[in-house]
Amino acid sequence: MDIKTERAVEAALLAHADKDGALLEILHHVQGALGYIPAAAVPPIGAALNLSRAEVQGVIGFYHDYRTEPAGETVLQVCRAEACKAMGVQQLEAHIHQRLGIHYHETTPDGRYTLEPVYCLGNCACTPSLRIGDTVHARVTPERFDELVPLAAGVEE
Ligand code: FES
Repeated sequence: MDIKTERAVEAALLAHADKDGALLEILHHVQGALGYIPAAAVPPIGAALNLSRAEVQGVIGFYHDYRTEPAGETVLQVCRAEACKAMGVQQLEAHIHQRLGIHYHETTPDGRYTLEPVYCLGNCACTPSLRIGDTVHARVTPERFDELVPLAAGVEE
């Protein structure tokens, strides 16, 4: 385990290990510090909470907010919940996959964009919704996507 991961895990355990719901808080803390939860962080977290690696990994896998790889410079989150589906988010998804050459949970080869699914961005009246970094955009068509997300260098048109 590298020193950054070791420090992040130590700080997270110190801050949360004795609380109810400690595992989620610890994972959140580590991701906040490192941007993701490295595989090396799992054994010491499990040991501290008396959980197996599989149990910790199961929780990480269950919650889509947790990342096991570093994210790209900008995270793109596409809402896949009902209201966005009803307004054709599948067409937007297909366009994004084709345009950036990545699927969900992947990052463009130049490290510029990471694509993630989410399930409601609280913008259901103006769907389809797309979050770019911290900003939620409404009524995102494929054309609007191209305006909002300039192509990464090296991505073929
Ligand atoms: S369902 Fe997409 S923003 Fe709520």
